Amino acid sequence: MTLQQAIIWGRQQLSQSEDAGADVSALLCFVLDKEKAYLLTWPERELTQAQQQQYKDCIAERQKGRPVAYITGRREFWSLMLEVNDSTLIPRPDTETLVEVALSLKLPDNARVLDLGTGTGAVALALKSERPGWQVVACDHNEEAVALARRNSLALGLEVDVLFSNWLQSVPKSPKFDLILSNPPYIEAADPHLATGDVRFEPHTALIAENNGLADIETIIKQAKSHLVDQGWLLLEQGWQQADRVIDLLFKTGYKKVNRWQDYARVERVTGGKKASAERD
Ligand SMILES: C[S@@+](CC[C@H](N)C(=O)[O-])C[C@H]1O[C@@H](n2cnc3c(N)ncnc32)[C@H](O)[C@@H]1O
Repeated sequence: MTLQQAIIWGRQQLSQSEDAGADVSALLCFVLDKEKAYLLTWPERELTQAQQQQYKDCIAERQKGRPVAYITGRREFWSLMLEVNDSTLIPRPDTETLVEVALSLKLPDNARVLDLGTGTGAVALALKSERPGWQVVACDHNEEAVALARRNSLALGLEVDVLFSNWLQSVPKSPKFDLILSNPPYIEAADPHLATGDVRFEPHTALIAENNGLADIETIIKQAKSHLVDQGWLLLEQGWQQADRVIDLLFKTGYKKVNRWQDYARVERVTGGKKASAERD
């Protein structure tokens, strides 16, 4: 089987997939351990028997609906190739908005930053890659995710201190943070999207929150104040229809300069605010 034949065959097998072309090239690149350009440059190259078998196995997995990132064990986020597994969420391009907003804030060169619910470490590692002077700490309540984020930190040579913690419970209160940010679970348990596509394979603990999807956001908003410096920022990714309710919670909890930010599709993706000065924890 040549590469071109493999592509045509794979597309036919995955005709039910949302983007069969992208799936096929990601799986073929994984099997060959090559970049996408290789597929375009060498269409007549033959796959070895072992490669053909591995490719067919990957296609069969994908036909069952398993996400490509879980089959290949990797996903790119902010140009960083991350190890991924089914202990946590596959990082989404949408979450790059959270990184962009964080980078747009005026923070000290040696800012202390905390990423809550870090999963693969995507957000924390993206920030560290852009601001090497920042002291970045990350946490998750899932031991496998903590181990995964630590491996990604090591593999990329980006120093992030990854802790096991139920939100801020086990994070020391001192020294405090200039920025706390999170992409927490925010989907309602009854959301019909949970029964479709890749999401079916992702752990519910990474996706679903009680109280109409707002329970974890509310906990973070309350807990973060005692870990922020005066004028420190809290940033949250939230669902596309949740911004008003999150803004309300931020105001009610006493945050100032409360704001919302859109992603490239003009969806309200991030909300946040500053801890007021001289406020008692
Ligand atoms: C939506 S995922 C986001 C993962 C990653 N930050 C990203 O953007 O790809 C939410 C993450 O929060 C973690 N999480 C859920 N509940 C938590 C809790 N009580 N304390 C700490 N982490 C929690 C999950 O394990 C999961 O890794």
